[in-house]
Amino acid sequence: MIKRLSALIGLWKGNGVANFPTIEKTEYIEELEFKFIGDDESIMFEQKTWFKIDGNKGAPLHCESGYIIAYPDDTFELFNAQNSKRVEVMKSTFVQINESKLQLTFESKYFGNDERMVKTARKFTVEENSLHFEMKMATQKTPEFQKHLESVLKRSL
Ligand code: HEM
Repeated sequence: MIKRLSALIGLWKGNGVANFPTIEKTEYIEELEFKFIGDDESIMFEQKTWFKIDGNKGAPLHCESGYIIAYPDDTFELFNAQNSKRVEVMKSTFVQINESKLQLTFESKYFGNDERMVKTARKFTVEENSLHFEMKMATQKTPEFQKHLESVLKRSL
């Protein structure tokens, strides 16, 4: 039931860091919105990021939008399309929801349009008005599975 993920709903704003052995550590500003779009088993989401320059928004960086879908067996899938041309389908691997905390993890099931990708995982932790996000990846060039992104966001609406 998608309503189990109600704690995600809203607009979240904050800061993150992108890192990987092949890139320069990059600080970014992030806005992330999750919304129900009707009575079906889906949440629509949109993530936008900007380079963080002297504490302010610089040029746009990564953007993606997509859906989280709930299935009758209590699992979820996350689909996204990214401005870097890549698409991704992820399957939930862990879901824990209680009154004050939601933990939701996904692992990649399918990539399109980016030959470099081997594996990704995402972890969302919502505690009241704070959302912690982590993304790990392995690529053809860097097969050791490791952190690419980490952000901390606050509920803004
Ligand atoms: C908040 C979202 C994200 C931010 C801020 C971000 C940031 C960055 C930055 C700054 C770079 C280095 C410059 C470049 O190559 O463009 C990079 C590289 C990369 N990112 Fe991300 N990224 C994000 C999401 C993702 C996602 C969702 C994926 C995969 C599903 C991904 C996969 C990659 C790959 C494969 C590279 C190239 C690494 C290499 O050349 O070895 N990124 N990212």
